[in-house]
Amino acid sequence: MNIAMLGSGFIARFYANTLHDQRRKDRILSVYSRNIANAEKFAADYGLSSYGSEMEKIIQDPAVDAVIVALPNHLHEEAVLACAAANKAVLCTKPLGRNASEAKRMLEAVEKAGVFAGYLEDLCYTSKFLKSLASIKAGSLGKILWTKSREAHPGPHSDWFWDKEKSGGGAIIDLGCHCVEISRNFIGKGVRPMEVMCWADTQVHPIDAEDHAIGLVKYENGAIGQFEVSWTFRGGMDLRDEVMGTEGTVWLNSFLRTGFEMFTTGKGENYIAEKAESDSGWLFPVGDEAHELGYPQMFSDMFDAMEQGREPLETFYDGYVVNAILDAAFLSAKSKKWETVKLEDWRGEGSGSEEKSQVSYDEKYYLIKKELLPNGEAKVILKDKVTGEIKQVTVKN
Ligand SMILES: NC(=O)c1ccc[n+]([C@@H]2O[C@H](COP(=O)([O-])OP(=O)(O)OC[C@H]3O[C@@H](n4cnc5c(N)ncnc54)[C@H](O)[C@@H]3O)[C@@H](O)[C@H]2O)c1
Repeated sequence: MNIAMLGSGFIARFYANTLHDQRRKDRILSVYSRNIANAEKFAADYGLSSYGSEMEKIIQDPAVDAVIVALPNHLHEEAVLACAAANKAVLCTKPLGRNASEAKRMLEAVEKAGVFAGYLEDLCYTSKFLKSLASIKAGSLGKILWTKSREAHPGPHSDWFWDKEKSGGGAIIDLGCHCVEISRNFIGKGVRPMEVMCWADTQVHPIDAEDHAIGLVKYENGAIGQFEVSWTFRGGMDLRDEVMGTEGTVWLNSFLRTGFEMFTTGKGENYIAEKAESDSGWLFPVGDEAHELGYPQMFSDMFDAMEQGREPLETFYDGYVVNAILDAAFLSAKSKKWETVKLEDWRGEGSGSEEKSQVSYDEKYYLIKKELLPNGEAKVILKDKVTGEIKQVTVKN
């Protein structure tokens, strides 16, 4: 693929490092930046043949196969609409929009134009995530009941994130988009998100947006997706997920504990990891950040999907659903009530009931639980199928 990069900041460089790493064949051809000096520097750093400060000109170049939108949130819609108008495949970073209305307009534009569109949700492509998702899809955890996804760090690296108008919100939109999409994958993308309860506050920073939030997303089948997001966390970048099902559990730690521990007195200047707050003492570096964060796997899926004429694992429709869930979270943080997720365009399963599994113990009882005791006996807790009475029986194991 010949790629045009829109933006030359933090994520554009992460993407470029990934795309031009390890002898990959897809290449960035050109870069757009509003500041021509930044565009020139980016082009020089990655050996690009062209650069410019006019976005449409870069998009419309006939040599470009796909455009990556790596611009601040308030510019995603304009960039995506320009790609659709130019009939170009487009890959957009997260969050898709600042809200569901923006995301829906982007979704409609690419679908109307018939262009390939991918949602660059890297955390749904980490090796750990993909392997646990495969286990969950194979039934290893049974029915998923509760997911918990956390992203917390000391706050983002550029001015526009902190400006609610430009970003669309604080930690909820910036980090909640990852957590919500991780939970949707584990619970099942076909299961409809129904309502959200969210607490949010501005605990530390002098900004209008929230710098900390905790939310619960209730799904139609009774599953709960919990998100915990913060720009107030000290000690680096905490990326953790938990999944609990009727048959098992998964715990993932994607960044702060990847199995690499190091001590240094601080001699020698060293980059440790994204958002690391210290470069001395006991440290937790990350070996290959792009890989740990899922970027190579994500781009492979995107470009394979384009070539194979299929949808990528993460689509603009997913980005739209995430935005709709986050819209409800913002409402709930204000109203302090459960708020309905408004999805004008729902493409998942129809109304599924909240079925609960009842395991028969014998003709008369359901089995609630069996536990082996320290003395070697086993206790079973039973419920009478007719009267509902609950009782326990000790049995020889
Ligand atoms: N894990 C991830 O997927 C991930 C991580 C970080 C950022 N992002 C997303 O990437 C996007 C960009 O974030 P970033 O961290 O690279 O930000 P950044 O501030 O480092 O870079 C933004 C780029 O856009 C340019 N820009 C800023 N304002 C502009 C304007 N008004 N007009 C034109 N260009 C402008 C900047 O000069 C810079 O090149 C955001 O949507 C963010 O949410 C995704």
